[in-house]
Amino acid sequence: MKILFLGDIVGNSGCKAIKENLPNIIKKKKIDFVIVNGENAAQDGMGITENNTNELLNSGIDVITTGNHVWDQKETYELISRQKRLLRPLNLPNNTPGKGFEIYNSQKGFKIGVLNLMGNIFMKKCDDVFKITNQFLEKNRLGDKYDFLIVDFHGEITSEKMAVGHIFNGRATLVVGTHTHVPTNDGRILNKGTAYLTDAGMCGDYNSVIGMNTENSINKFNKKNSVKHFPSEGEASICGVIVEGNTENGLAINLSSFIFGGDLKNIE
Ligand SMILES: [Fe+2]
Ligand SMILES: [Fe+2]
Repeated sequence: MKILFLGDIVGNSGCKAIKENLPNIIKKKKIDFVIVNGENAAQDGMGITENNTNELLNSGIDVITTGNHVWDQKETYELISRQKRLLRPLNLPNNTPGKGFEIYNSQKGFKIGVLNLMGNIFMKKCDDVFKITNQFLEKNRLGDKYDFLIVDFHGEITSEKMAVGHIFNGRATLVVGTHTHVPTNDGRILNKGTAYLTDAGMCGDYNSVIGMNTENSINKFNKKNSVKHFPSEGEASICGVIVEGNTENGLAINLSSFIFGGDLKNIE
């Protein structure tokens, strides 16, 4: 069972790269299920629209996760209540629209649980991610309602992500970080069989500052002549990981990084 997870899609450049390349990637790599973080898919890099969602799902993506930018487009409040393939972090306050966890059927008939969490440190205020993780694991078990579990941990700092990775060790197929837009090189299978990577990187133009226009970003840091952030429009690199799951126990057999196109190259 091969599951492709891709990091934050940024702006038109990221969406275009997915639309043009994902169907071939799925075929060539024999991918069974695709999850992507879409929190920056909108034209201005903030949030995700219904059009973005439909285009991404039509390109072969099965589930879209999000993060701190989930509500940047107003239409998402209504969309997320009826679009089950679009998730928001589970640890948002009670009564928040949408879901942070759902179980989906793969084409081969496996049940894939997808859990979206958000970190607490240097992030928007949300419920304690460790408390919510422990509550989730008390109620849910790999091999019961789902055959595989993929966790998107949307967070800023590496230690928080890694700690949550270890909590899920032996209880998830993959724990992968998103949000920083920079891929890390620490992908591995933990000692109880869960694949882990601190950050998947982004699907966006790397000739930028985390996907946004370089000059404008530098001006912002220099506190001069900046306008609202806007995405860089060059060719995107599609960035993420492929996890091969064991159909007997839902744990990981193999984890490989995946980088395609644009400025970023896979280091072999
Ligand atoms: Fe992001
Ligand atoms: Fe984010």
